[in-house]
This record gives sequence, structure tokens and C-alpha cells, in this order.
Amino acid sequence: MPEKLALGVLASGRGSNFQAIVDEIEAGRLNASVKLLIVDDPKAFAVERAKKHSIEYLCLQPREFSSKDAFFLKIVDELKMRGVKLVILAGFMRIVRRPLLDAFPHQVMNIHPALLPSFPGLHGQKQAVDYGVKISGCTVHFVDEGMDTGPVIIQAAVPVSPDDTEESLSARILKLEHRIFPEAIRLYAEGRLRIEGSVVRISGYGLDEGLIVNPPLRG
Ligand code: GRF
Repeated sequence: MPEKLALGVLASGRGSNFQAIVDEIEAGRLNASVKLLIVDDPKAFAVERAKKHSIEYLCLQPREFSSKDAFFLKIVDELKMRGVKLVILAGFMRIVRRPLLDAFPHQVMNIHPALLPSFPGLHGQKQAVDYGVKISGCTVHFVDEGMDTGPVIIQAAVPVSPDDTEESLSARILKLEHRIFPEAIRLYAEGRLRIEGSVVRISGYGLDEGLIVNPPLRG
């Protein structure tokens, strides 16, 4: 068995994606271990999940630091100290800055609830409903300095109905987030991702496996 991939997770809230990753690990489907959860809000529910699964956690708040860079340097220290090799942004509501990206080049992943490059930033699901698109979804990507702009690793699509609300679409997308985030980490752990400029190549993936349409198309 190859060595487990050491993960560090950054979250700000509910932590359902963090939970999905932990569940995949515990089910033996993802050869990784979460070394540390860092939250930037002491009330983040993700902390309760960490406690339940005996995962070490820390709360670090930017206002406790002299600058944003100092905040991210502290995060880097804590992650490096525990041998983290891949940083997972699981609902971390801050733009990640250079100190973290320099310390973990192409080793920071984020999940976004829209099909990037459409609808970046906050409330991707509401943006999709308001625009009236017929398909939306979610995207796992490597993080760069921009807002949801880094190389796309994997995407999943869902239909959008004119009757959808932000809540109903969010729920539909979230189910797929919980599938593709662990999948992206698995691909990384298996050494199957190669970044060429803005393109991520995945070895051993056929085109038909790259798109999930839920529910399946009829006829
Ligand atoms: C998810 O919708 C994710 O796509 C976005 O923030 C939300 C986090 O949800 N980046 P959770 O905390 O993982 O439940």
C-alpha cells in the first residue's frame, strides 16, 4: 500500500465537504489522512465533525495577526509541521494568499458550486438561477491567486429548472460536490494529475467519465 496522502483542510463553516472526504477515507476508498483542520471561525460546524472523528483542529483568525500574509504564514507553519502534502479548501471563505501558494505550489485544491469559469465568487448557485442557465454544477480546481480561477481538475453537471431556488439548486449541486471532491483528491493521491499551463491532464480517464449528468438523460 503506498503511503497515505497527508491532507490539511481549511474550512469556515458547515464542513459537509470535509465530512465527505473523511467518510471516503474511513470507508477505505481514499488513501489519505487528514492531519489537521484549520477553521477561521470558532463557531464553524466543521470543528464538531473533527472532534467526532478525532481529527486535530485549530482555530486561527486573521485579526489575531499583524497582516493577512502573517495569518497565512502561520497556516503554512502548522500544515508543514504535520507533514501536509495537499491543502484542501472545503468552504474556506477567504482568498488564499502568496505565502500559502508558494509553500504548496499546485498543492492547494478548492471546490466551487458552479461550472467555472462561469459564476465565480460568492453565491455561485444563486448567480446560476438568476442568469437562467439550464445546466450548472460544481468544479474542483487547483488554487491560484485569483478568485476561483485556477486549473480545473474535475467538474460535474446538474440540470437547472426555471422553478429552482438558490436552496434547491444548492442541494442538488452539493450531492455532487461530495462525490467529486474526494475523487479529485484520489486522482491526486494516485499521481494521475498533470498540469500543463491552465490545463489539467488526467491519466486513465475517458471523456464519457468526465461528465456526470444527474438525472441521466433519457432517449
Ligand atoms: C460548498 O458549496 C462549496 O462549494 C463552497 O462552499 C460550500 C461549503 O460547504 N466553496 P461545506 O462547508 O463543505 O458544507
